[in-house]
Amino acid sequence: MPGLPIKPAVLTEIQRQFNHELSAAHAYTALAQWCAAQNLKGFARFFHKQAGEEREHAQKFMDHLLDRGASPELLAIPAPRTRFKNVLEVAQHAREMEQVNTAGIHQAYEAALAEKDYPAQVALQWFISEQVEEEAWCDELVGRVEAANCAGGASSLDRHLEKILDAKAHGGE
Ligand code: FEO
Repeated sequence: MPGLPIKPAVLTEIQRQFNHELSAAHAYTALAQWCAAQNLKGFARFFHKQAGEEREHAQKFMDHLLDRGASPELLAIPAPRTRFKNVLEVAQHAREMEQVNTAGIHQAYEAALAEKDYPAQVALQWFISEQVEEEAWCDELVGRVEAANCAGGASSLDRHLEKILDAKAHGGE
């Protein structure tokens, strides 16, 4: 078997998180679709980019498992939430998803610590830092949507959203 073998408890956690990242990509695509339907094209583009990032995160986990001689298993992805009353609910949902994601990363890291799996710890540390950024842009998004709660506020924010949040969410790309 190639690679540094991975203990079953760590494999279970990384496997779970790998699938969670794929479901996050699906969920962000749903947010983008909702925003596009409301003619909030800036929000839609931003969430599409976020979906792409989640697929990259899944790829990182997949690569780690393959490098360790394990076979990533793709599971069924649950249907994402698609109904929202307004864009504030969309922003709040994004923040809740990232909070759940942070908890999942930390749970995987705890397994890697308990099993003394040093390569998995290093791989997961990247995700721990990434979640600091993810939660920061979500907090900012919710705050800005709350502040834009006036006539024309949401469409004005829509025009500038990518510029405001891209540096935080996508490293300024
Ligand atoms: Fe894969 Fe939004 O963190």
